[in-house]
Amino acid sequence: MASATPTVLIVSRDPEVKQVAAALQADGLTARNVASPRELQRALNTKTRSVIVLDDELAADDAFASAEILEKVHSLPTLVLVAPNAEMLNQSSADNPSIEEFVRKPIASTVLALRVKALILAAGLSLPTVKAAPVVEQGPLDLSSDSRGELTVVFSVKGGSGKSTIAANLAAGLASLYSVQTLLVDANLWFGDLGVLLNLTSSRSSFDVCGTEDPDLFALPKAVVPHASGASVLLRPPDPLSVEKIKLRSFVDAIERYRSLYEHVIVDCAAALDELNLDLLENSTRVLLVVTPEMGALHNTARFLGLAERLGHNRKISLVLNRANSGINAEDLQRTLGIPVACGVVSAGKMMLEAVNEGTTLFAMDPLRKERITQDLAAVVELVAGRAQPPVQRRDDSRRASPLRFLRRSA
Ligand SMILES: Nc1ncnc2c1ncn2[C@@H]1O[C@H](COP(=O)(O)OP(=O)(O)OP(=O)(O)O)[C@@H](O)[C@H]1O
Ligand SMILES: [Mg+2]
Repeated sequence: MASATPTVLIVSRDPEVKQVAAALQADGLTARNVASPRELQRALNTKTRSVIVLDDELAADDAFASAEILEKVHSLPTLVLVAPNAEMLNQSSADNPSIEEFVRKPIASTVLALRVKALILAAGLSLPTVKAAPVVEQGPLDLSSDSRGELTVVFSVKGGSGKSTIAANLAAGLASLYSVQTLLVDANLWFGDLGVLLNLTSSRSSFDVCGTEDPDLFALPKAVVPHASGASVLLRPPDPLSVEKIKLRSFVDAIERYRSLYEHVIVDCAAALDELNLDLLENSTRVLLVVTPEMGALHNTARFLGLAERLGHNRKISLVLNRANSGINAEDLQRTLGIPVACGVVSAGKMMLEAVNEGTTLFAMDPLRKERITQDLAAVVELVAGRAQPPVQRRDDSRRASPLRFLRRSA
Protein backbone atom coordinates (compact mmCIF):
# COMPACT_ATOMS: atom_id res chain seq x y z
CA MET A 1 0.00 0.00 0.00
CA ALA A 2 1.36 3.45 -0.84
CA SER A 3 2.29 5.37 2.29
CA ALA A 4 1.92 9.10 2.84
CA THR A 5 4.43 11.63 1.59
CA PRO A 6 5.93 13.31 4.67
CA THR A 7 6.73 16.95 5.37
CA VAL A 8 10.44 17.70 5.69
CA LEU A 9 11.25 19.96 8.64
CA ILE A 10 14.62 21.65 8.29
CA VAL A 11 15.82 22.61 11.74
CA SER A 12 18.72 24.94 11.01
CA ARG A 13 19.76 28.56 10.96
CA ASP A 14 22.47 27.95 8.38
CA PRO A 15 21.44 29.75 5.15
CA GLU A 16 23.24 27.14 3.03
CA VAL A 17 21.33 24.29 4.66
CA LYS A 18 18.03 26.15 4.39
CA GLN A 19 18.41 26.22 0.61
CA VAL A 20 17.52 22.53 0.50
CA ALA A 21 13.88 23.49 1.10
CA ALA A 22 13.71 24.96 -2.41
CA ALA A 23 15.37 21.86 -3.94
CA LEU A 24 12.89 19.57 -2.15
CA GLN A 25 9.91 21.73 -3.08
CA ALA A 26 11.00 21.60 -6.73
CA ASP A 27 10.70 17.82 -6.41
CA GLY A 28 7.14 18.12 -5.12
CA LEU A 29 7.91 17.62 -1.42
CA THR A 30 6.60 19.88 1.31
CA ALA A 31 9.59 21.32 3.14
CA ARG A 32 9.65 23.90 5.93
CA ASN A 33 12.49 25.78 7.51
CA VAL A 34 12.19 25.85 11.28
CA ALA A 35 14.55 28.01 13.30
CA SER A 36 13.01 28.32 16.79
CA PRO A 37 11.82 25.77 19.36
CA ARG A 38 8.32 27.30 19.21
CA GLU A 39 8.07 26.87 15.45
CA LEU A 40 9.32 23.31 15.74
CA GLN A 41 6.81 22.54 18.50
CA ARG A 42 3.99 23.85 16.32
CA ALA A 43 5.16 21.90 13.28
CA LEU A 44 5.39 18.68 15.27
CA ASN A 45 1.93 19.12 16.73
CA THR A 46 0.25 18.70 13.36
CA LYS A 47 -0.95 15.27 12.23
CA THR A 48 1.30 15.24 9.16
CA ARG A 49 4.13 12.66 9.11
CA SER A 50 7.48 14.43 9.32
CA VAL A 51 11.10 13.68 8.69
CA ILE A 52 13.73 15.98 10.14
CA VAL A 53 16.92 17.58 8.90
CA LEU A 54 18.56 18.58 12.18
CA ASP A 55 21.56 20.84 12.28
CA ASP A 56 23.69 19.59 15.16
CA GLU A 57 24.74 23.16 15.95
CA LEU A 58 21.15 24.11 16.58
CA ALA A 59 20.48 20.99 18.61
CA ALA A 60 23.33 22.09 20.88
CA ASP A 61 21.77 25.54 21.20
CA ASP A 62 20.47 26.04 24.79
CA ALA A 63 16.98 27.01 23.67
CA PHE A 64 16.62 23.74 21.78
CA ALA A 65 18.61 21.55 24.12
CA SER A 66 16.32 22.40 27.04
CA ALA A 67 13.19 21.89 24.98
CA GLU A 68 11.51 18.50 25.33
CA ILE A 69 10.68 18.61 21.66
CA LEU A 70 14.15 17.38 20.76
CA GLU A 71 13.15 14.04 22.23
CA LYS A 72 10.23 13.93 19.86
CA VAL A 73 12.51 14.93 17.00
CA HIS A 74 14.78 11.99 17.72
CA SER A 75 11.85 9.59 17.55
CA LEU A 76 11.30 10.62 13.93
CA PRO A 77 13.46 9.73 10.91
CA THR A 78 16.28 12.26 11.21
CA LEU A 79 19.22 13.36 9.12
CA VAL A 80 21.74 15.01 11.44
CA LEU A 81 24.08 17.60 9.94
CA VAL A 82 27.36 17.70 11.78
CA ALA A 83 30.25 20.18 11.74
CA PRO A 84 33.12 19.49 9.28
CA ASN A 85 35.42 17.97 11.90
CA ALA A 86 32.88 16.26 14.12
CA GLU A 87 33.07 12.54 14.75
CA MET A 88 30.28 10.67 13.00
CA LEU A 89 28.71 7.66 14.62
CA ASN A 90 25.59 5.96 13.45
CA GLN A 91 23.78 5.98 16.71
CA SER A 92 20.73 3.83 16.04
CA SER A 93 20.55 1.54 19.02
CA ALA A 94 18.08 -0.42 21.10
CA ASP A 95 17.33 2.78 23.10
CA ASN A 96 16.88 4.73 19.91
CA PRO A 97 15.44 2.46 17.24
CA SER A 98 14.45 5.32 14.92
CA ILE A 99 16.24 5.99 11.66
CA GLU A 100 19.09 8.43 12.17
CA GLU A 101 21.65 9.27 9.52
CA PHE A 102 24.61 11.58 9.73
CA VAL A 103 26.02 13.87 7.11
CA ARG A 104 28.92 16.26 7.28
CA LYS A 105 28.66 19.95 6.43
CA PRO A 106 29.18 21.68 4.09
CA ILE A 107 26.92 19.81 1.69
CA ALA A 108 25.48 20.99 -1.62
CA SER A 109 21.69 21.37 -1.47
CA THR A 110 21.22 18.93 -4.40
CA VAL A 111 23.20 16.26 -2.54
CA LEU A 112 21.39 17.01 0.72
CA ALA A 113 18.06 16.70 -1.11
CA LEU A 114 19.10 13.22 -2.27
CA ARG A 115 20.04 12.20 1.25
CA VAL A 116 16.64 13.40 2.49
CA LYS A 117 14.88 11.38 -0.20
CA ALA A 118 16.82 8.26 0.79
CA LEU A 119 15.78 8.89 4.42
CA ILE A 120 12.13 9.11 3.39
CA LEU A 121 12.29 5.84 1.45
CA ALA A 122 14.21 4.07 4.24
CA ALA A 123 11.45 5.12 6.68
CA GLY A 124 8.93 3.34 4.46
CA LEU A 125 7.36 6.64 3.40
CA SER A 126 6.75 7.65 -0.17
CA LEU A 127 8.13 10.31 -2.47
CA PRO A 128 5.89 12.40 -4.70
CA THR A 129 5.20 11.05 -8.17
CA VAL A 130 7.74 12.21 -10.72
CA LYS A 131 6.09 14.54 -13.21
CA ALA A 132 6.07 12.71 -16.56
CA ALA A 133 7.13 15.27 -19.13
CA PRO A 134 4.98 15.51 -22.26
CA VAL A 135 6.64 13.44 -24.96
CA VAL A 136 7.65 15.42 -28.04
CA GLU A 137 8.25 12.33 -30.13
CA GLN A 138 5.34 10.50 -31.72
CA GLY A 139 6.54 7.08 -30.46
CA PRO A 140 4.16 5.28 -28.10
CA LEU A 141 6.39 5.40 -25.01
CA ASP A 142 4.58 4.51 -21.84
CA LEU A 143 5.96 6.79 -19.14
CA SER A 144 2.49 6.94 -17.51
CA SER A 145 1.96 7.25 -13.79
CA ASP A 146 5.14 5.45 -12.71
CA SER A 147 6.56 7.26 -9.69
CA ARG A 148 10.11 6.37 -10.69
CA GLY A 149 12.33 8.41 -12.95
CA GLU A 150 12.95 7.44 -16.55
CA LEU A 151 15.67 4.96 -17.37
CA THR A 152 17.46 5.65 -20.64
CA VAL A 153 19.91 2.98 -21.74
CA VAL A 154 22.55 4.05 -24.28
CA PHE A 155 23.46 0.95 -26.23
CA SER A 156 25.19 -0.10 -29.43
CA VAL A 157 26.18 -3.38 -31.01
CA LYS A 158 29.67 -2.15 -31.80
CA GLY A 159 32.42 -0.74 -29.56
CA GLY A 160 33.64 2.81 -30.12
CA SER A 161 30.40 4.02 -31.72
CA GLY A 162 29.99 6.97 -29.34
CA LYS A 163 27.83 5.60 -26.49
CA SER A 164 29.84 7.16 -23.67
CA THR A 165 30.17 10.48 -25.50
CA ILE A 166 26.42 10.61 -26.07
CA ALA A 167 25.52 9.36 -22.58
CA ALA A 168 27.83 11.86 -20.83
CA ASN A 169 26.60 14.81 -22.88
CA LEU A 170 22.99 13.68 -22.51
CA ALA A 171 23.23 13.57 -18.72
CA ALA A 172 25.11 16.89 -18.57
CA GLY A 173 22.54 18.45 -20.91
CA LEU A 174 19.55 17.25 -18.90
CA ALA A 175 21.08 18.60 -15.69
CA SER A 176 22.44 21.88 -17.04
CA LEU A 177 19.90 22.85 -19.72
CA TYR A 178 16.73 21.43 -18.16
CA SER A 179 17.75 21.45 -14.47
CA VAL A 180 16.37 17.96 -13.96
CA GLN A 181 17.84 15.62 -11.37
CA THR A 182 19.95 13.28 -13.43
CA LEU A 183 22.15 10.30 -12.67
CA LEU A 184 24.67 8.99 -15.18
CA VAL A 185 25.66 5.35 -14.60
CA ASP A 186 28.73 3.63 -15.99
CA ALA A 187 27.49 0.10 -16.66
CA ASN A 188 30.71 -0.84 -18.42
CA LEU A 189 31.98 -2.31 -15.17
CA TRP A 190 35.38 -3.49 -16.45
CA PHE A 191 36.43 -0.80 -18.90
CA GLY A 192 34.05 2.10 -18.38
CA ASP A 193 35.61 5.49 -19.06
CA LEU A 194 33.00 8.01 -17.90
CA GLY A 195 35.31 9.05 -15.06
CA VAL A 196 38.01 9.88 -17.60
CA LEU A 197 35.61 11.60 -19.99
CA LEU A 198 34.24 13.81 -17.22
CA ASN A 199 37.50 14.19 -15.30
CA LEU A 200 36.10 12.64 -12.14
CA THR A 201 38.28 10.68 -9.78
CA SER A 202 36.76 9.18 -6.68
CA SER A 203 36.92 6.02 -4.64
CA ARG A 204 33.11 6.09 -4.67
CA SER A 205 31.61 3.76 -7.26
CA SER A 206 28.92 1.24 -8.07
CA PHE A 207 30.82 -1.26 -5.93
CA ASP A 208 29.54 0.65 -2.87
CA VAL A 209 25.96 -0.22 -3.77
CA CYS A 210 26.28 -3.70 -5.18
CA GLY A 211 29.13 -5.36 -3.38
CA THR A 212 26.51 -6.88 -1.07
CA GLU A 213 23.32 -8.84 -1.63
CA ASP A 214 21.02 -6.23 -0.13
CA PRO A 215 22.36 -2.72 -0.66
CA ASP A 216 21.55 -0.22 2.06
CA LEU A 217 19.28 2.53 0.78
CA PHE A 218 21.47 5.16 2.42
CA ALA A 219 24.42 3.92 0.41
CA LEU A 220 22.81 5.08 -2.84
CA PRO A 221 23.31 8.86 -2.53
CA LYS A 222 26.72 8.32 -0.91
CA ALA A 223 28.05 6.31 -3.85
CA VAL A 224 27.54 8.99 -6.51
CA VAL A 225 29.99 11.71 -7.51
CA PRO A 226 28.73 15.21 -8.38
CA HIS A 227 29.66 16.64 -11.78
CA ALA A 228 29.95 20.36 -12.58
CA SER A 229 26.91 20.12 -14.90
CA GLY A 230 24.70 19.31 -11.91
CA ALA A 231 24.37 15.61 -12.84
CA SER A 232 25.48 12.88 -10.44
CA VAL A 233 27.68 10.08 -11.73
CA LEU A 234 27.90 6.47 -10.56
CA LEU A 235 31.39 5.44 -11.65
CA ARG A 236 32.60 1.91 -12.37
CA PRO A 237 34.63 0.29 -9.56
CA PRO A 238 38.17 1.75 -9.43
CA ASP A 239 39.70 -1.65 -8.68
CA PRO A 240 39.22 -4.22 -11.48
CA LEU A 241 39.47 -7.02 -8.91
CA SER A 242 36.29 -5.82 -7.23
CA VAL A 243 34.26 -6.12 -10.46
CA GLU A 244 34.24 -9.90 -10.03
CA LYS A 245 32.58 -9.44 -6.65
CA ILE A 246 29.75 -7.33 -8.01
CA LYS A 247 26.43 -9.08 -8.03
CA LEU A 248 24.84 -8.11 -11.31
CA ARG A 249 21.34 -8.50 -9.86
CA SER A 250 22.26 -6.02 -7.09
CA PHE A 251 23.58 -3.59 -9.70
CA VAL A 252 20.34 -3.75 -11.67
CA ASP A 253 18.30 -3.45 -8.45
CA ALA A 254 20.36 -0.45 -7.33
CA ILE A 255 19.63 1.30 -10.64
CA GLU A 256 15.93 0.64 -10.10
CA ARG A 257 16.20 2.19 -6.64
CA TYR A 258 18.06 5.21 -8.00
CA ARG A 259 15.03 5.81 -10.21
CA SER A 260 13.16 6.82 -7.05
CA LEU A 261 15.76 9.50 -6.35
CA TYR A 262 16.30 10.93 -9.85
CA GLU A 263 14.01 12.08 -12.65
CA HIS A 264 16.38 10.65 -15.25
CA VAL A 265 18.85 7.81 -14.98
CA ILE A 266 21.13 7.49 -18.03
CA VAL A 267 23.04 4.23 -18.36
CA ASP A 268 26.14 3.93 -20.53
CA CYS A 269 26.61 0.27 -21.51
CA ALA A 270 29.41 -1.87 -22.86
CA ALA A 271 28.84 -3.12 -26.41
CA ALA A 272 27.71 -6.62 -25.50
CA LEU A 273 24.44 -8.45 -25.30
CA ASP A 274 25.22 -10.07 -21.97
CA GLU A 275 23.00 -10.77 -18.98
CA LEU A 276 23.56 -7.31 -17.48
CA ASN A 277 22.66 -5.43 -20.65
CA LEU A 278 19.63 -7.64 -21.29
CA ASP A 279 18.34 -6.81 -17.80
CA LEU A 280 19.02 -3.11 -18.30
CA LEU A 281 17.24 -3.15 -21.67
CA GLU A 282 14.31 -4.94 -20.06
CA ASN A 283 13.95 -2.30 -17.32
CA SER A 284 14.56 0.70 -19.55
CA THR A 285 11.89 3.22 -20.48
CA ARG A 286 13.93 4.26 -23.51
CA VAL A 287 16.85 2.81 -25.45
CA LEU A 288 19.12 5.10 -27.43
CA LEU A 289 20.56 2.75 -30.01
CA VAL A 290 23.75 4.34 -31.32
CA VAL A 291 24.85 3.40 -34.80
CA THR A 292 27.63 4.70 -37.04
CA PRO A 293 27.13 4.83 -40.82
CA GLU A 294 29.22 1.80 -41.83
CA MET A 295 28.30 -1.64 -43.16
CA GLY A 296 29.47 -3.73 -40.18
CA ALA A 297 27.59 -1.61 -37.64
CA LEU A 298 24.52 -1.51 -39.87
CA HIS A 299 24.44 -5.28 -40.32
CA ASN A 300 24.67 -6.05 -36.61
CA THR A 301 22.28 -3.25 -35.66
CA ALA A 302 19.71 -4.90 -37.97
CA ARG A 303 20.32 -8.20 -36.17
CA PHE A 304 19.85 -6.49 -32.80
CA LEU A 305 16.61 -4.84 -33.96
CA GLY A 306 15.24 -8.25 -34.96
CA LEU A 307 16.04 -9.56 -31.49
CA ALA A 308 14.64 -6.45 -29.80
CA GLU A 309 11.37 -6.96 -31.63
CA ARG A 310 11.13 -10.53 -30.36
CA LEU A 311 11.91 -9.33 -26.82
CA GLY A 312 9.26 -6.62 -27.13
CA HIS A 313 11.74 -3.72 -26.80
CA ASN A 314 11.37 -2.24 -30.27
CA ARG A 315 8.83 0.41 -29.19
CA LYS A 316 11.34 1.84 -26.73
CA ILE A 317 14.15 2.23 -29.25
CA SER A 318 15.26 5.59 -30.66
CA LEU A 319 18.00 5.36 -33.26
CA VAL A 320 20.88 7.83 -32.91
CA LEU A 321 23.13 8.07 -35.95
CA ASN A 322 26.56 9.16 -34.75
CA ARG A 323 29.07 10.66 -37.18
CA ALA A 324 26.01 11.22 -39.36
CA ASN A 325 27.84 13.32 -41.94
CA SER A 326 30.07 10.50 -43.16
CA GLY A 327 29.61 7.06 -44.76
CA ILE A 328 26.20 5.59 -45.56
CA ASN A 329 23.55 8.30 -45.77
CA ALA A 330 20.66 8.50 -43.32
CA GLU A 331 17.91 7.63 -45.85
CA ASP A 332 19.62 4.40 -46.93
CA LEU A 333 20.36 3.53 -43.32
CA GLN A 334 16.81 3.95 -42.10
CA ARG A 335 15.45 2.08 -45.13
CA THR A 336 17.75 -0.87 -44.34
CA LEU A 337 16.97 -0.85 -40.63
CA GLY A 338 13.26 -0.17 -41.02
CA ILE A 339 13.18 2.48 -38.29
CA PRO A 340 13.67 6.24 -38.53
CA VAL A 341 16.78 8.03 -37.34
CA ALA A 342 15.52 9.98 -34.30
CA CYS A 343 18.68 12.12 -34.08
CA GLY A 344 21.85 12.53 -36.09
CA VAL A 345 25.09 13.66 -34.48
CA VAL A 346 27.81 15.03 -36.75
CA SER A 347 31.43 14.04 -36.54
CA ALA A 348 33.41 16.79 -34.86
CA GLY A 349 36.84 15.35 -34.27
CA LYS A 350 38.63 18.48 -33.08
CA MET A 351 36.00 19.68 -30.60
CA MET A 352 35.41 16.18 -29.30
CA LEU A 353 39.12 15.68 -28.78
CA GLU A 354 39.37 18.98 -26.91
CA ALA A 355 36.39 18.05 -24.74
CA VAL A 356 37.88 14.65 -23.91
CA ASN A 357 41.32 16.14 -23.19
CA GLU A 358 39.78 18.71 -20.88
CA GLY A 359 37.43 16.17 -19.31
CA THR A 360 34.41 18.29 -20.07
CA THR A 361 31.17 18.23 -22.06
CA LEU A 362 30.21 20.03 -25.25
CA PHE A 363 27.61 22.09 -23.35
CA ALA A 364 30.31 23.45 -21.05
CA MET A 365 32.70 24.10 -23.96
CA ASP A 366 30.09 25.72 -26.19
CA PRO A 367 27.44 27.18 -23.84
CA LEU A 368 25.90 29.30 -26.60
CA ARG A 369 25.41 26.12 -28.67
CA LYS A 370 26.97 27.72 -31.74
CA GLU A 371 28.60 24.54 -33.04
CA ARG A 372 26.66 21.93 -34.99
CA ILE A 373 27.90 19.13 -32.71
CA THR A 374 26.48 20.90 -29.64
CA GLN A 375 23.17 21.52 -31.41
CA ASP A 376 22.96 17.85 -32.40
CA LEU A 377 23.68 16.71 -28.86
CA ALA A 378 21.11 19.21 -27.56
CA ALA A 379 18.56 17.56 -29.87
CA VAL A 380 19.35 14.19 -28.22
CA VAL A 381 18.80 15.82 -24.83
CA GLU A 382 15.51 17.30 -26.07
CA LEU A 383 14.36 13.88 -27.29
CA VAL A 384 14.97 12.33 -23.86
CA ALA A 385 13.67 15.34 -21.89
CA GLY A 386 10.48 15.21 -23.96
CA ARG A 387 10.14 18.96 -24.23
CA ALA A 388 11.60 21.84 -26.21
CA GLN A 389 15.07 23.08 -25.34
CA PRO A 390 15.24 26.07 -23.04
CA PRO A 391 16.67 29.06 -24.95
CA VAL A 392 20.40 29.66 -24.79
CA GLN A 393 21.30 31.74 -21.73
CA ARG A 394 23.56 34.53 -22.92
CA ARG A 395 25.92 35.26 -20.10
CA ASP A 396 25.92 38.99 -20.78
CA ASP A 397 22.07 39.25 -20.79
CA SER A 398 21.78 40.14 -17.13
CA ARG A 399 24.76 42.43 -17.27
CA ARG A 400 23.68 44.23 -20.44
CA ALA A 401 23.23 47.87 -19.52
CA SER A 402 19.69 49.17 -19.58
CA PRO A 403 19.14 52.16 -21.87
CA LEU A 404 17.62 53.88 -18.82
CA ARG A 405 20.68 53.36 -16.62
CA PHE A 406 21.77 56.99 -16.72
CA LEU A 407 18.31 58.03 -15.42
CA ARG A 408 18.70 55.67 -12.48
CA ARG A 409 22.16 56.89 -11.74
CA SER A 410 21.14 60.50 -11.76
CA ALA A 411 17.94 59.94 -9.77
N1 LIG B 1 30.43 12.61 -33.12
C1 LIG B 1 31.71 12.42 -32.88
N2 LIG B 1 32.65 13.18 -33.47
C2 LIG B 1 33.96 12.99 -33.21
N3 LIG B 1 34.44 12.08 -32.39
C3 LIG B 1 33.56 11.26 -31.76
C4 LIG B 1 32.16 11.39 -31.96
N4 LIG B 1 31.54 10.46 -31.21
C5 LIG B 1 32.50 9.80 -30.55
N5 LIG B 1 33.72 10.27 -30.90
C6 LIG B 1 35.03 9.78 -30.43
O1 LIG B 1 35.09 8.38 -30.73
C7 LIG B 1 35.73 7.68 -29.69
C8 LIG B 1 34.80 6.57 -29.17
O2 LIG B 1 33.69 7.22 -28.56
P1 LIG B 1 33.04 6.63 -27.22
O3 LIG B 1 34.09 6.31 -26.22
O4 LIG B 1 31.97 7.55 -26.83
O5 LIG B 1 32.44 5.29 -27.81
P2 LIG B 1 31.81 4.06 -26.99
O6 LIG B 1 30.73 3.52 -27.86
O7 LIG B 1 31.45 4.48 -25.64
O8 LIG B 1 33.04 3.07 -26.94
P3 LIG B 1 33.13 1.71 -26.07
O9 LIG B 1 32.29 0.69 -26.79
O10 LIG B 1 34.59 1.38 -26.11
O11 LIG B 1 32.62 2.01 -24.71
C9 LIG B 1 36.12 8.70 -28.66
O12 LIG B 1 37.45 9.06 -28.88
C10 LIG B 1 35.19 9.87 -28.92
O13 LIG B 1 35.77 11.11 -28.55
MG1 LIG C 1 32.05 3.67 -23.80
